[in-house]
Amino acid sequence: MLPVPHTAIIVVAAGSGTRLDAGAPKAFVGIDTHSILRHALDGVFAAAPAQVVVVAPPGFEGDAEAELRAAAGDRAELGRVVTGGETRQQSVAAGLAALWGDVRTVLVHDAARALTPPETIDAVVAAVGSETGVIPALPVVDTLKRVNEDDVVGAVDRSELAAAMTPQGFPRELLERAYDAARTAGADYTDDAALFAAAGHAVRRIEGSARGFKITTPADLDRARHLLSAASAEADSSPVRGARPSGALPRIGLGTDVHAFGGEGSLWLAGLEWPDEAALSGHSDGDAVAHAIVDALLGAAGLGDIGQHFGTAHPEYAGAHADVFLARTRQLVEEAGFAIGNVSAQFQSNRPRFSARRGEAEQVLSEALGGAPVTVTATTTDGLGFPGRGEGVAVTAVALVVPREKGGESA
Ligand code: CTP
Ligand code: MG
Repeated sequence: MLPVPHTAIIVVAAGSGTRLDAGAPKAFVGIDTHSILRHALDGVFAAAPAQVVVVAPPGFEGDAEAELRAAAGDRAELGRVVTGGETRQQSVAAGLAALWGDVRTVLVHDAARALTPPETIDAVVAAVGSETGVIPALPVVDTLKRVNEDDVVGAVDRSELAAAMTPQGFPRELLERAYDAARTAGADYTDDAALFAAAGHAVRRIEGSARGFKITTPADLDRARHLLSAASAEADSSPVRGARPSGALPRIGLGTDVHAFGGEGSLWLAGLEWPDEAALSGHSDGDAVAHAIVDALLGAAGLGDIGQHFGTAHPEYAGAHADVFLARTRQLVEEAGFAIGNVSAQFQSNRPRFSARRGEAEQVLSEALGGAPVTVTATTTDGLGFPGRGEGVAVTAVALVVPREKGGESA
């Protein structure tokens, strides 16, 4: 048992990410091979031990739990997941309700500030007073104007301003009371320091870090990707490192799959239905060509394997065909910062006779991958092995993915 900490960090991750618009709740969008939430939690667990409460969007509690466990390592017992609300304030309130009795200092942190250094977290904890809150903040560098529609009506002295970040830290009881007061008053705040100050308490600032910026728009996500890939290129001590151009090389992946004949209904292979052929068995439609391609793409992008993303833990893919698997794979690959170059697959089997429908199959598979070229070849094995005996199909696929341009920032 770890000692019960007197500090808790509430990581709010229940927002939908409307402005990022990435097809999934923002916290679960990949920066590299890891999600925004995972990066935020890596930072949190690299700081001094604290209770960690992750506030997840309804329906994503299981995903949040998995990220929490992966980040926590041997501190898993310090973490738990609760369900968020419609506003950030409601989500924080849900996190506050899950605090342990011994907690005296509470930090509230946006999962969206995924790259916040652990040093900032520790510095906020250290600066919280018995009656004062603390925020990390950065000086405002832009020249600011007061405007009325399109008219500039005045200057703003930026020395009076600071840009607020998270984690924001508070004495627990005063924060809880301030939250109760805000709820009773029906007031909605987007930031905890404002809510705390409205209850009459003082808030101080410490120096924030530029890495603590909030991922709000697609450009912010690119900035995070850029920072991480620059860091991993620096950490790469391979002897050939100097010989390659700034981490922008294409990457290849390999996938194989085998399915036995003996499924129900008709055969599905290479994205096509083959009505008069014996079906393959499998969790989905048994399309071993599609599955090998998925593994090749995931492998190329460093995203794990098919079991992780589509296995029996995902009943929504039972019976799904190639188009569904490949479209989702493409999304994962793109979210990780890659474009698909091309895919080549070969299956070994006596049946079906493939050549007459090769073009059709390649077109279906290519469309499911957003137009990336897909080629499929077929071969028999001279009667040898299980494909030769007609017991099943064996497939090998390779895929190439290419790091996407990083929106104009230099290395
Ligand atoms: N948040 C939350 N619950 C909500 C709204 C927001 O937990 N109902 C969290 C977000 O997950 C995020 C942080 O509050 O970590 C800051 O919010 P923001 O950056 O605005 O995220 P979203 O609300 O998800 O994004 P958008 O406003 O673009 O929809
Ligand atoms: Mg929001």
